Amino acid sequence: MGLVTDEIARLNIESELKKLMYYENAPKASLEWGMNHIMFAPSKRVRPLLVLEANLVYGEPDSDAYILAAAIELIHTYSLVHDDLPCMDNDELRRGVQTLHVLHGDAYGVLVGDALLTEGYSMLARYTKAEKLASILKIFGEKSGRRGMVYGQMLDLEYEQKLSGEKKMSVEAVNEVNRYKTGCLLQLSLLAGAINGGASDNELKEFDKLGAAIGDVFQIKDDILDETSSTEVLGKPVGSDERNEKSSIVRFLGISGAEDLMNKRKNDALQIIKELPGNRDFFEKFLDFLVTREK
Ligand code: IPE
Ligand code: IPE
Ligand code: MG
Ligand code: MG
Ligand code: MG
Repeated sequence: MGLVTDEIARLNIESELKKLMYYENAPKASLEWGMNHIMFAPSKRVRPLLVLEANLVYGEPDSDAYILAAAIELIHTYSLVHDDLPCMDNDELRRGVQTLHVLHGDAYGVLVGDALLTEGYSMLARYTKAEKLASILKIFGEKSGRRGMVYGQMLDLEYEQKLSGEKKMSVEAVNEVNRYKTGCLLQLSLLAGAINGGASDNELKEFDKLGAAIGDVFQIKDDILDETSSTEVLGKPVGSDERNEKSSIVRFLGISGAEDLMNKRKNDALQIIKELPGNRDFFEKFLDFLVTREK
């Protein structure tokens, strides 16, 4: 994974996350044990990385930047735990380890997910720039909740006919689902880092657009890997989308059509990056990573 793992190491992301939220001596099957189990299984840490790199456009990330990164990773991880539940995608492997509901029952998966989400918001109480906290809380709520990631997950299940409604799938519909279920937390990551670094309102608008484009690239690649990769490499079950009759872009466009759309959105992202002040280098390399990643 080259660039990304190097950057994660350079920015001490793994060790900072561990300091902020690893629970020592958690008893087996406690909430903390489940949180450790899934939080510290191998992950790409894409969202913390984006928080820190958006901050870096303006200056070195401070301890607040790591608080924001940890909060988003907690919220992202809760979304994965719930996404894997039998009532949603019903998957038994995540980040190379058994899912929590497989280990200790569905209710355990629900509750560990709840605890991760709650801890994500509690983490924000440690944020020290009081004058920015209200706008940060607002954007966390918008991008992760009923008009953000949760809304995307809702749409995803509606198109799958797991929730009531007569929604008909189409390429446009898949793009809409992706924008919310995946794009919103990537937007949140960029916006939180940029706000902490001191971005202007206009610059935040560019970061929001960049997050949407990166989200499309990210989820299209996720859908492609679901068809083309292996469970061993991905650390989560391949073929999950087909089994669930999921609103996957590959279903509509095939692999090569999906790749075309992914590259189109990558080019959109590259255009937006040109508008950012300084430090574009990382974002360009990051987009190359996204389209070539194997997990
Ligand atoms: C998986 O996210 C969920 C999607 C939005 C596709 P990641 O691919 O970032 O998962 P981790 O955090 O590396 O496990
Ligand atoms: C889910 O998309 C995005 C989330 C909000 C968790 P997927 O259902 O495709 O994610 P994976 O493939 O299980 O990681
Ligand atoms: Mg899903
Ligand atoms: Mg899933
Ligand atoms: Mg997927």
